[in-house]
Amino acid sequence: MKTIPSDQTLGAEILGVDVSVPLDTETIKAIYQAILDHCVIYFRNQTVTQQQLVDFTNYFGVAVEHVRKQAPRDVSEIFIVSNVKEKGQDIGALGNAELSFHSDLSYMPKPGTLSLLHAIEIPSTGGETTWCDCRAAYDALGQDLKQSLEGLRAVHQHYVEAQNPPEIIDHPVVITHPDTGRKSLYVGPHLTKHIIDVDPAESERILGLLYRHLANPTFHWTHEWQVGDLVVWDNRPTMHRREPFPETERRLLWRTQIYNDVAPQA
Ligand code: OGA
Ligand code: MN
Repeated sequence: MKTIPSDQTLGAEILGVDVSVPLDTETIKAIYQAILDHCVIYFRNQTVTQQQLVDFTNYFGVAVEHVRKQAPRDVSEIFIVSNVKEKGQDIGALGNAELSFHSDLSYMPKPGTLSLLHAIEIPSTGGETTWCDCRAAYDALGQDLKQSLEGLRAVHQHYVEAQNPPEIIDHPVVITHPDTGRKSLYVGPHLTKHIIDVDPAESERILGLLYRHLANPTFHWTHEWQVGDLVVWDNRPTMHRREPFPETERRLLWRTQIYNDVAPQA
């Protein structure tokens, strides 16, 4: 196995691993270490069945069915991300529109750890995914701002009301990674609503400032998808966004996600 880091602070390509076959503990440890170091890793030219993708996911935790229900299927842990329609029905989620920065499932009390996406069909243009290094973004804040964020919590909500749990969910604005001890910003324009226990104008001021900060390309790394790619990312130290793509083109990815019994911690 060989790790080729990107020229940004996050993102790395992993060479020499076939994710469809059983892997030894040493390789699994090395892959997890690469995820901790680089936040997002990718393997090119992979051929896997849905069950093999779930088996690979399970090396890093417990693959669970996505909270958003999809049509009954053979491997229930697989979530279809696609704009493709069959007989007038969406076969998957997320369509073809732009998605702004978010950390997956942050509207849940326990958002989990890693997400994986395996590319089956990719449009000829658009649909690139960009990850933001929220560790680097936190580190780059001034000392005073870091101090003023301490203890703050923000509400996270999905824009599809039915997808939210019955209770209002809030998480720390700055979280600490349980395995690396590194702090990172944990707010994004797609799912974060407001900071609690401060007045609305102050919440808007702080979030606006943090969103402008996270938008700085020095913290970003963009993946240009190819069929056969498998991308694995840690949602705790990152946010991601997706470019739109033409609705006349097909994009289809298989996704898995890992449960975590621990809520994000300050
Ligand atoms: C996701 C997601 C982005 C993409 O599956 O959580 O944000 O590029 N996908 O499809
Ligand atoms: Mn996502």
